[in-house]
Amino acid sequence: MSTAERPLAGLTGLPDAAELARLANAFFASLPGGASPQAAVGGLPAGLPSAGLPFGAQSSAAALTPDAPGPLPAVPGALGLAQGQGSRAAAAPAVVPSGGVPSGGASLGGIPPSVPPQIQAIPQAPSSLDTARGYPGVADPTAFGLPGEHELAGLLAPRHGPAQLAPSAAAPAYYFLDERRPGGAGIRVPGHQHDALQAVPLSARPALDVNLVRRDFPILAERVNGRQLIWLDNAATTQKPQAVMDRIAHFYQHENSNIHRAAHELAARATDAYEAAREKVRAFLGARSTNEVVFVRGATEAINLVAQSWGRANIGKDDEIIVSHLEHHANIVPWQRLCVEKGAKLRVIPVDDCGQVLLEEYGKLLGPRTKLVSFTQVSNALGTVTPARRIVEMAHAAGATVLVDGAQSVSHMAVDVQALDADFFVFSGHKLFGPTGIGVVYGKEALLNDMPPWQGGGNMIRDVTFEHIEYHPAPNRFEAGTGNIADAVGLGAAIDYVSALGMDNIARYEHELLAYATRLLQEVPGLRLVGTAADKASVLSFTLDGYRTEEVGAALNKEGIAVRSGHHCAQPILRRFGLETTVRPSLAFYNTCAEVDVLAAALWRLAGSRRIY
Ligand code: ALA
Repeated sequence: MSTAERPLAGLTGLPDAAELARLANAFFASLPGGASPQAAVGGLPAGLPSAGLPFGAQSSAAALTPDAPGPLPAVPGALGLAQGQGSRAAAAPAVVPSGGVPSGGASLGGIPPSVPPQIQAIPQAPSSLDTARGYPGVADPTAFGLPGEHELAGLLAPRHGPAQLAPSAAAPAYYFLDERRPGGAGIRVPGHQHDALQAVPLSARPALDVNLVRRDFPILAERVNGRQLIWLDNAATTQKPQAVMDRIAHFYQHENSNIHRAAHELAARATDAYEAAREKVRAFLGARSTNEVVFVRGATEAINLVAQSWGRANIGKDDEIIVSHLEHHANIVPWQRLCVEKGAKLRVIPVDDCGQVLLEEYGKLLGPRTKLVSFTQVSNALGTVTPARRIVEMAHAAGATVLVDGAQSVSHMAVDVQALDADFFVFSGHKLFGPTGIGVVYGKEALLNDMPPWQGGGNMIRDVTFEHIEYHPAPNRFEAGTGNIADAVGLGAAIDYVSALGMDNIARYEHELLAYATRLLQEVPGLRLVGTAADKASVLSFTLDGYRTEEVGAALNKEGIAVRSGHHCAQPILRRFGLETTVRPSLAFYNTCAEVDVLAAALWRLAGSRRIY
């Protein structure tokens, strides 16, 4: 059935759950073979309770998506809400016995009988009570005569969030799951400004409706190996909302030109769009001025820019650069090369067995020779959220300049570069639901204007003779040649998108999802989680006894689950844990508990058929 053929008109007058249920039943009955919502979810063992299914997203999306690869047409948000929520209303009573407990392990096709009750009684995805209104791509359901989102959510989605899971006896006492304060005071919300625990009432549910959100990401309806795609490789790159794709298409359809405002109309449009994107980045990072925002290709190029420009001008023989043991190769190699060139030393902040930096040891490394501290805000391999504000403070007290690598943090938490007081902050657009090939160096304006340009060419020049060059101030002095104009504009759209959802909402939702996933994964026999810091964001690195990590990755791929297995371009930190590789599922705000359930079920199957213990 095509999007256009769906019974939108019939849905516009839906008054209550019964009517929604009737329509959902009719919808599923109209599918080939009268598919049930469960059957429609590729990869999920038949009989898993509906309480874990994000019906608004997975069931209907899977049912509507042809098995052959190919893009799914954009689906309006309000339509998705009506159909999705209707599906839940229709299906839930039919498959969930009272209390939401499944009828028994026997019906769990493919899952070994030893699967623990937590997986059998999968809680509902932590969907929102509130939905950010007006974010790109999602229409207001009331415009279609539907109840408002609050009413729909209340009507159709009884809540059994992860917080109601029985605590696992196997959960290590030190782990971040145990951070709920006595008396139910709060949960840890990751964020550089949240180095201390934040009081967030346990009753506060994320203001983010994952089912609606998923409608904005057409690729999430893709099928892989005959299964519904489950994208858990977000630390490598994130998927793009339709709004970003539309914005880039609009640029090429209506604005494409080089950026030289005065030349003609399209040049003016392109320049305006590019500079508007710079302003969006400024606001997103909390920078003082757009002059502090330099567009580059990505975080790797950003760090290389700082190393080659600031570094070559400021690092000398016997000077010291400090990085942490957690760093991605992109935050090691440029500095090591600089050290070799200048006769400087690279020093490393060690981490504890959970994967958190040891601040006391860091303090001992700081000294008069320390010129730069460059560290990640979130580890790509372990998910550790470092105490960034404190690291910056200590560096500044020692007179050092600081670069914060935000490649893995910007998609998970609100960033405020002024509060952080970083001298440089870098990130990549493609990890923030934006396009590839665009990234940012934030630098304090005075610092940037003190730095020599890195590359030379057009756009960065105020005046050139054969004897003399006069450069523009930042940011232009660092943007030689024609930049990636369209993708900068696309990054602006991605920032609009996440800003409308709210970075704090995203952080809260992901925290709950991470807690849920951690509970499930740590109970898989022979699975060792690597990186168990108290403050983590959205990464679950692990090994599984009896399997090479690439075997696990390949087995998951067969089930439509995309994870990265390998060294994650962070060999030093994996070797710190005696490993060369891990399997790394990594989460984003469009992932669901149901997807985590499918992952856990697949890992239980692998564990149940392992060759050795
Ligand atoms: N830095 C990316 C990752 O962690 C590529 O996978």
